[in-house]
Amino acid sequence: MNDPTTIRRLYGRRQGHKLRQGQSALVEELLPDVEVPASGPLDARALFGDDRPLELEIGFGAGEHLAGQAAARPDHGFIGCEPFLNGVVGALGHIRDQGLKNVRLHMGDALDVAERLPDASLDRVYLLHPDPWPKARHAKRRMVNDGPLDLIAAKLKPGCQFRLGTDDPTYCRWAMMVMNRRRDFVWTAQTPRDFLTRPDDWPETRYERKARRQGHEVWYFTYTRV
Ligand SMILES: C[S@@+](CC[C@H](N)C(=O)[O-])C[C@H]1O[C@@H](n2cnc3c(N)ncnc32)[C@H](O)[C@@H]1O
Repeated sequence: MNDPTTIRRLYGRRQGHKLRQGQSALVEELLPDVEVPASGPLDARALFGDDRPLELEIGFGAGEHLAGQAAARPDHGFIGCEPFLNGVVGALGHIRDQGLKNVRLHMGDALDVAERLPDASLDRVYLLHPDPWPKARHAKRRMVNDGPLDLIAAKLKPGCQFRLGTDDPTYCRWAMMVMNRRRDFVWTAQTPRDFLTRPDDWPETRYERKARRQGHEVWYFTYTRV
């Protein structure tokens, strides 16, 4: 089990291009309304005022998938985590434009949020195109590792889904190896089509579209928490 007292380091960029005026205004005006509280208990009641099912997206990028899922299931609550400010701005834009009331955002490490959630409280966890950390000496930084997976497993309800997408062949092999040796997740695929074709309820992100344009294969893994 992941030790919550372990000090983690968050790798990767926190900001890209400078925000335009409208984007800065979005961060100042909308983010405080939808931000995951920095401390205190974290559950559906604390976040949404009722006992709705919760879903977590780790590293939502520009937020297309998060917003798509939230729009498809307005009765569920969605927690999106992303340390990259420009990505958070993207998600805020979707929340505003689509009038989404069921999304909360954390600008930072998803694992910090997961640790504060009650065990067996999540109906789904999404991890789409995690940073690949292609060098073997950086493999410990990959989100698909036993530490983060122990935490995800603890927070998912039995029978619920962990969805993982990647277009990186090294990460694909790595993830299959790590996931296949776990006893707490079962891969749902019955045929190659199940992981080679994007499920209808898996909204495409800009990142994924770009990967396909560049000729990359994309793999869609769905695991059930035992
Ligand atoms: C390659 S991008 C993919 C973005 C998005 N999932 C998509 O498919 O478009 C990986 C994202 O994961 C984010 N990330 C990396 N480590 C993270 C962590 N510990 N918690 C939350 N997000 C993280 C990065 O900032 C980056 O935006």
